Amino acid sequence: MEITIDTRPFADIDSDALVTYVFEQEKPADGLLAQLDQANGGTLTRLAATGELTGKWLESTLLYYPQGLAAQRLLILGAGKRDKFTSVELRRIAGTAVRSLKSRQGRRLVFLARENDRSEAAAQAIAEGMILANFDSEKYKTDKKPGSEITNVAMIGWEESARAEAERGITRGRIIAESQNFARDLGNEPSNKLTPSILADRAAAMAREAGLAVEIFDEKKIADLKMGALLSVSQGSAEPPRMIILTYTPESVNQNAPVLGLVGKAITFDSGGISLKQSKGMEDMKYDMCGGAAMLGAMRAIAALKPKCKVIAVIPSSENMPGGRAQKPGDVQISMAGKTIEVANTDAEGRMVLADGIAYARQLGCTHLIDAATLTGAVVVALSYVNSAVFGTDQSFTDQLLASAKAAGEKMWPLPLDDEYRDMMKSSIADIKNTGNGKGGGASVGAMFLREFTGSTPWIHLDIAGTAWQDDTKPWNAKGATGVAVRTLVDLAMKFGANSSKL
Ligand code: BES
Ligand code: ZN
Ligand code: ZN
Repeated sequence: MEITIDTRPFADIDSDALVTYVFEQEKPADGLLAQLDQANGGTLTRLAATGELTGKWLESTLLYYPQGLAAQRLLILGAGKRDKFTSVELRRIAGTAVRSLKSRQGRRLVFLARENDRSEAAAQAIAEGMILANFDSEKYKTDKKPGSEITNVAMIGWEESARAEAERGITRGRIIAESQNFARDLGNEPSNKLTPSILADRAAAMAREAGLAVEIFDEKKIADLKMGALLSVSQGSAEPPRMIILTYTPESVNQNAPVLGLVGKAITFDSGGISLKQSKGMEDMKYDMCGGAAMLGAMRAIAALKPKCKVIAVIPSSENMPGGRAQKPGDVQISMAGKTIEVANTDAEGRMVLADGIAYARQLGCTHLIDAATLTGAVVVALSYVNSAVFGTDQSFTDQLLASAKAAGEKMWPLPLDDEYRDMMKSSIADIKNTGNGKGGGASVGAMFLREFTGSTPWIHLDIAGTAWQDDTKPWNAKGATGVAVRTLVDLAMKFGANSSKL
């Protein structure tokens, strides 16, 4: 999708649709909206008077062959209350514009940004919303209609003098949204099309294209490094595991500067192992690699946006299957860090692979760690499908992440880490057990297990089990993998780089 800034008079721009948005209780009295109304012979004023154009959130008013405009259609979306309108709503309006036109086989869209939405940040949000909306989860359908994608967008409303700023916003928005779509595409892949080796190949191809250093460890190397927790999960599967390591190094960086480590759970299918899951909903467990996909998406954007800090992604990938060699409940495994783990439940496999991922990221010299994982069903009990859970050992680092989540428009909410949750994982035979004591708090117990492997390194854990997947299509985006956390992580890496280069 090509997105350009067009400063020609809007009435002259030929397109399949001109789209704009109005707020509740707004009259098309001035600015471009008034001009649009005039060009169109006062239709907007008349529609508002008859109560058909109210500005209610996502109300959709579509006019065909609008008078006075070169566009074939005029679409006016309701933007809701003006004082509630933030970049989150703007992204969704832009996305809804794209999906409404897409469903009508249109290809060329003109988007009129309103008076307050002509900043660089607004241009970024619009571009993000449109690129995210243009993505579909129908990769394997063979009867896709041709032309079901928007190919050209002209953004209007900007003065010629603001063009450079708007174009910067568009470029940045494109990088971030395409990277989020990269993560979504991986999340949607069925597990027969995305095994750990295929995921590693795709990560390596992306890294080469983006200019990142890449290392892929096969099963032998993983064994040589004594990553016993990761190996224990993969041993029940016919598919070998992989450890994926991507490194972004800025052009100049001081030796003692902080290094950001991104560790992502990438279980390409989680059957539960011998502690087998029920079959209802098991097909969803192809998305148990969305933590890893989020890190890959973030690295793709980081490579292009070039923060001033080193960033290393460590992604342990495996299937979790109940094969004849599978680990069994009660088995004891020795993790890379040397800590022994009693596997009370083979379905708590994410924390196993992350234990070795975290240990390895520390060994590589990461000074700050963030992991993302579809770790627990319990997080859905706590926060539903609305918020990702945030756990952190360093308040200021955690606050930075929460601020980035807000800036990126991703809902994240802190949950506690207390020593009591650690006590729930006491094992009578090993250092720790991989489950709690059945008395609830599953998301915090899972997080506390990971904490055992982080030592003194400031660390944040994101449990995205409730937010990585969307069952239903929204007006502004397709159902399926959401690519959650990519935007937050990119925002954080950019700010982290800016702050650490001042140290
Ligand atoms: N991958 C699942 C968690 C999950 C559940 C992700 C629902 C997405 C949607 C994870 O590996 C798991 O099975 N966790 C167990 C842990 C338990 C055995 C301690 C769970 O949440 O039941
Ligand atoms: Zn599991
Ligand atoms: Zn899992």
